[in-house]
Amino acid sequence: MDTQDNNDFHTLQWVGDVDGYLELLDQTGLPSECIYIACRDVESVWEGIKMLRVRGAPAIGVAAAYGVSLGVQSVKDASSGLFANRLNEVCDFLATSRPTAVNLFWAIERMRKVGLLLLKMSSPPQVLKGLLEEARQIEREDCQSCHDIGLHGRELLHDGDGVLTHCNAGALATAGSGTALAVILAAHEQGKRLHVFADETRPLLQGARLTTWELMRRGVKVTLICDSMAAQVMREGRVQVVVTGADRIAGNGDVANKIGTYSVALAADYHNIPFYVAAPISTFDLGLKSGNDMPIEQRSWSEVTLCGKTQVAPEGVDVYNPAFDVTPVNLVHAISCERGIIAPVNRERIMDMVK
Ligand code: MRU
Repeated sequence: MDTQDNNDFHTLQWVGDVDGYLELLDQTGLPSECIYIACRDVESVWEGIKMLRVRGAPAIGVAAAYGVSLGVQSVKDASSGLFANRLNEVCDFLATSRPTAVNLFWAIERMRKVGLLLLKMSSPPQVLKGLLEEARQIEREDCQSCHDIGLHGRELLHDGDGVLTHCNAGALATAGSGTALAVILAAHEQGKRLHVFADETRPLLQGARLTTWELMRRGVKVTLICDSMAAQVMREGRVQVVVTGADRIAGNGDVANKIGTYSVALAADYHNIPFYVAAPISTFDLGLKSGNDMPIEQRSWSEVTLCGKTQVAPEGVDVYNPAFDVTPVNLVHAISCERGIIAPVNRERIMDMVK
């Protein structure tokens, strides 16, 4: 399995046993500061997710799963009734941290279900053990999914390709080697010579700060561009393929991902460049018929008016700051998931692969 052992950092890790804590690499400090923070209660996990200290759809799912374990530590000696109430309270609370990445809700509901089921046959201390084991299992599965997404997806890339990616869908966004970056790394490890173009990804610069940082450490050729340069770079013939991650994929194949992904897909379509998505099954939301009902996170105006700590817009200016957009399925050529490649992308193929 391609674990994070290939990296000299870990995105998140549980330290200790049932009374342990969650350690997160605080991604807001990267690339200048590589600082780990200890989350010893559910509130700090919630804050870590909300403030993007841990980010990327699969990683926030794994962090939330450990957050559930943390949240019930304090009631391990209480009655089953009190334990169940606290479990529900903690799950509901974590679900308010961010709205778009469905992996968060998928992981929380899995933890809730396991906890409530175990409570029917075991005492709270045993349930706490079971919850921690379930969180660990979610982490292991995510790691394996990344590996398999990479193996399937690498066949979509060819020697000599210029590959454009948006935001960060690497090890920092998962418990393993990433999704879009797992595809790129797996192809690179096959010996394919790739040249990655990383969109900076305004306003929070996940591409500039995180994707370039990861790829440079892994020896993959990477060039940073501003988001507004993507179409021109395609026009110049430097890009043969686009690969991004996803935060939620509707039943028809519409894809929610970091704001700016839709523009990249439109530009790729105009230049006849294939647009691929890499995501685990936990990112599919089959309950959503299309992207029209995708919950899109709205974030603070200050992320747009400030660049780092510098004010770049007039005080008091009106700002609109959706953190994600929806790329319609007709612009998506294939999805690489842990079970294989979905292509063409449509409801039928998705059901065959995901159900
Ligand atoms: O706001 P972020 O940084 O959490 O957004 C992350 C993305 O949009 C990623 O592309 C997506 O979560 C896939 S990560 C494997």
